[in-house]
Amino acid sequence: MEIRFAASRPTGDYALVLPVAGKDRRSLASLGTAQQGVITALDRQRFEGEGSSASEHFVDENGSVRRVLVIGTGNGGNMEQAAEKLGGTAVARLQTSGEKKGVIDVSALGYDADTAARIGLAAALRSWRYDRYRTKLKDNQKATLEEIVIIGAEGAEARYKSRWAPVVEGVSLTRELVTEPANIIYPESFVERVQKSLEGSGVEIEVLNRAQMEKLGMGALLGVAQGSAREARLLILRWNGGGEGNPTAFVGKGVTFDTGGISIKPAAGMEAMKWDMGGAGAVSGALKALALRKAKANVVGICGLVENMPGGNAQRPGDVVTTMSGQTVEVINTDAEGRLVLADALTYVQRNFKPSTIIDLATLTGAILVSLGHEWAGLFSNNEELASSLLKAADETGDKLWRMPLAEPFDRLIDSPIADMKNVGPREGGSITAAQFIQRFIESGLRWAHVDMAGKAWSDKASATYEKGATGYGVRLLDQYVADVLEA
Ligand code: BES
Ligand code: ZN
Ligand code: ZN
Repeated sequence: MEIRFAASRPTGDYALVLPVAGKDRRSLASLGTAQQGVITALDRQRFEGEGSSASEHFVDENGSVRRVLVIGTGNGGNMEQAAEKLGGTAVARLQTSGEKKGVIDVSALGYDADTAARIGLAAALRSWRYDRYRTKLKDNQKATLEEIVIIGAEGAEARYKSRWAPVVEGVSLTRELVTEPANIIYPESFVERVQKSLEGSGVEIEVLNRAQMEKLGMGALLGVAQGSAREARLLILRWNGGGEGNPTAFVGKGVTFDTGGISIKPAAGMEAMKWDMGGAGAVSGALKALALRKAKANVVGICGLVENMPGGNAQRPGDVVTTMSGQTVEVINTDAEGRLVLADALTYVQRNFKPSTIIDLATLTGAILVSLGHEWAGLFSNNEELASSLLKAADETGDKLWRMPLAEPFDRLIDSPIADMKNVGPREGGSITAAQFIQRFIESGLRWAHVDMAGKAWSDKASATYEKGATGYGVRLLDQYVADVLEA
């Protein structure tokens, strides 16, 4: 679907989308003689113009019939968020409606360029779908909407193109990677898909295979991979838009399927573990967005890619592995594999890129769902300034974060009698001990944050910016962090 901007309404067929702010219906004046009928209908429906509410009408326009979609933007509140809800709601309503074109006229709202551009952002994000494997869609299930035209704010088109269209591209890449099943996306094909998607973007790509990782001593990452017929990969993405200076590192958990390994997961719901690469997906999507918008920042993205399978060569509970850092780990539970993958990916990035800040993202623990449900991802950090920047970016983007604690008493819980540490603690505080494990691989003094996004990569309900399924969580968060902190 295309996003366009224009100075005035086009001629011809389209659905007209008019926003109303709460009970203030002044924007309907542009309907002319049809205005009174629509207002009467809104009253009869007890339409209050709350954010994301919608009411559909058909009005006569010089002898032909036009669909008019009235969408509430609420009273007061955050303008940017209201604009995103407007764009997303319009597309959700129109996408399979039979209409080919939707015209969103915000002339009456006095939006600035960025606010209006965000209508386009949300509209484009909400239109994303992946019908590749659906060969029997009925006609009325197919998307008809081809274009959204936004009317009524000067400068919005330029703003959309430079700031938000790249984010749409990044989020779409992430959603595609997350949506694809694990027979299609495995470490090697993940790399190929990202390479293809980043062609010509200016992102430098490097890939390590098993032999190269063996040489580097990545025993933890490779231990996870050894039960699978699919070979592991480490994907390294570099965007150098910021001149000299140490990069910021984004590190993603990329378990392309997590069976649990020998500590195998129950059958019910296991198909969800195709999205256990959501952290790596977010890192890849973020790098794409940053490159497309030519962000003035140096960023390195690392994806630790493995498949966790219970094959004949799989690691066993009780195995001791040596990580690239030299520290040893007793693998108590082979299903706590994400932290093992991250451990070596983190050592690699610190040794090779000397980052000033590291942010890792991972669908790491079921326990974070117990704590925060599907609303927030958990944020762990050893640095107050970094944590507050990330919380701010989360607020700005809707990729929500909630701060969780790190503390020495939790760290003690992963001491092992045979190795330097074990890979699981007790059930209680499971997300915290997982974060403590990761922290043991961060050199002291380095600014680090860990995002446990197990509840966020996938959604069973739609929102203003996504349909059920892959959310693209993390791309906007990282993109906004870069804009706020590295480009400020
Ligand atoms: N990928 C899972 C975490 C997960 C669970 C994500 C549910 C989304 C939904 C992770 O690798 C895992 O299995 N973690 C275990 C850790 C436990 C063995 C300490 C968990 O959370 O149960
Ligand atoms: Zn697991
Ligand atoms: Zn996992």
